[in-house]
Amino acid sequence: MATILSDISRTFSEYLLIPRLTRGDQRPELVDLSSPLCSLEDEESSHFKINVPLVSACMQAVSGADLAIALARQGGLSFIFCSQPIESQVDMIQQVKSHKAGFVASDTNATVDMSLRDVLVLMRSSGHSTVPVTSDGSATGFLKGIITDRDFWEYEDDMSNKVMQHMTPIQDVISASDGISLRDANGLLRKHKKECLPILSPEGNLVALVFKKDYEDHRRHPLELLDDSKRLRVGAAINTHDYVARVPALVGAGVDALCFDSSDGFNEHQMEGVKWIRKNFGRAITLGVGNIVSAEGFDYLVENDLIDFVKVGIGGGSICITREQKGIGRGQASALMDIVERRNLHAKDSGRYIPICSDGGLSSDTQIVIALAMGADFVMMGRYFAMTDESPTPKTSINGQMYKPYWGEGTRRAQNWQRYSDNRGSRQMIFEEGVDAYVPLVGPLSELVQTTLYKLRSTMVNVGADNLAQFREQAILTMVSEQSVEEAGTSNVRQFSTGRDVDNTDWGNGV
Ligand code: IMP
Repeated sequence: MATILSDISRTFSEYLLIPRLTRGDQRPELVDLSSPLCSLEDEESSHFKINVPLVSACMQAVSGADLAIALARQGGLSFIFCSQPIESQVDMIQQVKSHKAGFVASDTNATVDMSLRDVLVLMRSSGHSTVPVTSDGSATGFLKGIITDRDFWEYEDDMSNKVMQHMTPIQDVISASDGISLRDANGLLRKHKKECLPILSPEGNLVALVFKKDYEDHRRHPLELLDDSKRLRVGAAINTHDYVARVPALVGAGVDALCFDSSDGFNEHQMEGVKWIRKNFGRAITLGVGNIVSAEGFDYLVENDLIDFVKVGIGGGSICITREQKGIGRGQASALMDIVERRNLHAKDSGRYIPICSDGGLSSDTQIVIALAMGADFVMMGRYFAMTDESPTPKTSINGQMYKPYWGEGTRRAQNWQRYSDNRGSRQMIFEEGVDAYVPLVGPLSELVQTTLYKLRSTMVNVGADNLAQFREQAILTMVSEQSVEEAGTSNVRQFSTGRDVDNTDWGNGV
């Protein structure tokens, strides 16, 4: 007869944290949010740490190069999706690794004979007020000058005038040669009181732009996740079908961490892949596995002492219908607590601490807090990041509101790439495990992440914790009744600022 577990599948929203003593010297900005990604003798000694406990999901609608850059700049890590040909995944990894913080490729360029009206259209569509003028209007053409929105007055000047009549010509532009350090480039901006510095090749072609605002942005975000060569860090998802070809290509491109992307990681195919990677690449590459929802699955994956971190979660994702379609999965809180308990025992017995990633189903900042309090070392999210400007999907207006498309990796749409890739067309998709949806657009990733992290730090201070390990150690959680969930929101009031009863926890709900 089947074994029936005595506990019910629990979710994060069924729990609350009890405050503990806050010391007088504790402040949110002093809290350390770094988290290990790599298993070592103890959680203190992990040689690969992320600076904030957030990673982005291995999904087409989430983890592209722009999002990976934006998240690494905030201290987190993206796992670039593997549901694409190897070459394009490698290209995305290379884009992140070659991103020179502070040096940006110019995406809005003009030519001397464009009209002011055309330039204004360009500025409005890109949101940029400084536009390089190049010989062919490309980002790498010969630089002839710079035009900004301060060089003309929309209602005073004749908008059919040519760019040439209003731009600052090249002989008056302060520029620098390719190869200059970021520090020296910023020094020039400061010395000449400029907002933007073009970087030129020896032939005079535009290479990049350095902006004063990026310098200020960098100073505000000191947690950037960098490798030893000061390049941004990035992870990549891999699958059990083509790792023999994919992994060497990703490692060659400089990837910092790999993670098997599977809805059920308690299987021999994944373990074969793990063994192959360790045999061919040793322990140098950080390797995550999953997903699992039971202590039994954890025991299997850590048995040979080959993996770095474990991903927990089946069926909780916002676009996921695995539980409905296949009848497998587990409440995310129950799965996490079961595995954390086993991980802690394993650390005691073996002396090896395995970081745990709670993956999917997080729909508010509070749930991130609870997941970390319950013992997750970091969380993986899809919907959260899909809502940002930097996710790879186009902004879409529906009934006057801005949205972004968001779809599961188990949808036909995601799996379509195989039809165009060698030897994969024969894998037929009989049913879908995910849905194709839209999420509200919330703006820049940096703002969303900073708000989340500020709330997390504040809660940690309420619990008297200086870092995530202490948070896990000191957290006391209580289960809540339906009535107390109701009590937690605003009660019997209407908030007139928005004209609606507000759900003030969920990201983007009601947007
Ligand atoms: P979210 O943060 O709730 O949107 O969940 C994201 C997570 O859902 C991913 O990291 C995956 O673990 C999982 N996931 C992605 N695509 C699918 C799918 O098509 N079906 C089921 N789960 C999925």
